[in-house]
Amino acid sequence: MTNEPDMSDPSPIILALPKGRILKEVRPLLTQAGIEPEPDFDDSASRKLQFETNHPGLKIIRVRSFDVATFVAFGGAQMGVCGNDVLMEFDYDGIYAPLDLDIGHCRLSIAEPKELSATDDPRRWSHVRVATKYPNITSRHFAARGVQAECIKLNGAMELAPALGLCRRIVDLVSTGATLKANGLVEIEQIADVTSRLVVNRAAFKTRSVELSGWIDRFRESVDALAA
Ligand code: PRP
Repeated sequence: MTNEPDMSDPSPIILALPKGRILKEVRPLLTQAGIEPEPDFDDSASRKLQFETNHPGLKIIRVRSFDVATFVAFGGAQMGVCGNDVLMEFDYDGIYAPLDLDIGHCRLSIAEPKELSATDDPRRWSHVRVATKYPNITSRHFAARGVQAECIKLNGAMELAPALGLCRRIVDLVSTGATLKANGLVEIEQIADVTSRLVVNRAAFKTRSVELSGWIDRFRESVDALAA
């Protein structure tokens, strides 16, 4: 089998997975790929961060979605699952994203209060103040159309910012739209479509190519099998 441990590097491959709702979508892919984590993995109350699997050569770590990219880029993990929103925000050279896992579908959008949207004309903006977890994507997006963006970095609950006077607009992920609606906001422009990707550390992909290619192939087959 191609994804047996490389005897020249006996350390296990570390797979970094994001906590939260994406983890629920990743779980069937793991099963389909023949990866069974130790029982604590499915206990959301567990404080464990590292998990053994049924493969001696594969361990899982559970971290925040933005940190998946950081662990993989710096080689702390050889593989991971993260959204292209995170990849676009960080633009790490050390990450290769060979496979769209067809999970975590959502979009990165600009939103503003419903009342403001009734009269607002985004074509007239020359400067915007935006609350977001994505200052790099946001600045690049607005710069490309000649608008200067002043980003207020938040790590969550962006939807509160307009109501509390931090700014009038936000850039955030939208899935069902329920969070925007519950906070009186409407989507006015989509910046990017987002899905979760299997990502690999580029250096490890060279030195441990047999194992990592094996896992990429397994995940590809699993994505195809679940889509069929
Ligand atoms: C994300 C995102 C929005 C929400 C959108 O937050 O930041 O707040 O989901 O989903 P919806 O359109 O289906 O309502 P998440 O719950 O992942 O937590 P976070 O605020 O910590 O990012």
